[in-house]
Amino acid sequence: MSMTNANFPMDAEGRTYHVGIKRGELANRVLTVGDPARAITLARSLDGVDLENTPAKTIPANLFSYASHRGFLTITGTYKGVPVSIVAIGMGISMMDFFVRECRAVVDGPMLIIRLGSCGSLSDAAVGDICVPSGSYLVQRNYDFFAGDSDNASAKPYHLSKIFQADPEITKTLVKNMSAKLGDNHVWSGVNATADSFYSSQGRQDLNFVDANQDLFTELVEHEPNTMTLEMETFTLYHLAKTSTTAPLGQSQVSNGESKSKNSIRAGACMMVFAQRKTNAFITKEDVVRVEPLAGQAVFDSLVEVQL
Ligand code: URA
Repeated sequence: MSMTNANFPMDAEGRTYHVGIKRGELANRVLTVGDPARAITLARSLDGVDLENTPAKTIPANLFSYASHRGFLTITGTYKGVPVSIVAIGMGISMMDFFVRECRAVVDGPMLIIRLGSCGSLSDAAVGDICVPSGSYLVQRNYDFFAGDSDNASAKPYHLSKIFQADPEITKTLVKNMSAKLGDNHVWSGVNATADSFYSSQGRQDLNFVDANQDLFTELVEHEPNTMTLEMETFTLYHLAKTSTTAPLGQSQVSNGESKSKNSIRAGACMMVFAQRKTNAFITKEDVVRVEPLAGQAVFDSLVEVQL
């Protein structure tokens, strides 16, 4: 594969370096997930899928799909007649960064992006429930703290960022549509914490490493009393939506850290509780199979209901 332009590499066909998509392959309304298998399951809700003749784990033949060499899977079709895409990105803030920037680069006009992921719950949300965070902050390991020198006496082992907000209309619409599918008492609102590790910065105890995270949950709740969930992507989505501009690619877009123009991406997120961190319960496969398609339909309903 040969690429041009080291600043924003694209191949001769106009495919981006990691997500591997080109102009015309991605809709303005995007549902993003981590797991490619989840993307394929959710694709069964798109228009025109021949459910009887499409085996589970198979991408429906009537949809566009592209699997990139870096593990991203894009599926595009329509839902209730409106073009939508599903993009599976894997895990973590770097993968979210690749996804948002490369998708933005090949789509014209405003975009709506909603993430459907999995999370750990620090609230009373039980395994299998859905959480819809109105905002998210970043929990980042303070690497310098672990350097072993003496100037760290007053430093904290984890940095907690400011909260970046979801689009309020998307959040409200998601709560309404999730409640319609799963019932009010299984849908929770609050604030998400995105961690740069599944382990240390999510407060998991691992005796093989020095993580200094015994007090982390207390610190999260002191930082934001409404902290509801822990996962690994949503902060970056909300952060990039807030810093997105409408300037054409290649033009200088930023002054004093604020975008000059109106944001071109509006974002929201919701996640299924996989791990209940207060009781140590973990979701069963049966619960995933039950909740996943319903939650996916609620996201598609929201994506097509909100105006671009
Ligand atoms: N995803 C996470 O990042 N953490 C959890 O505990 C569960 C899913």
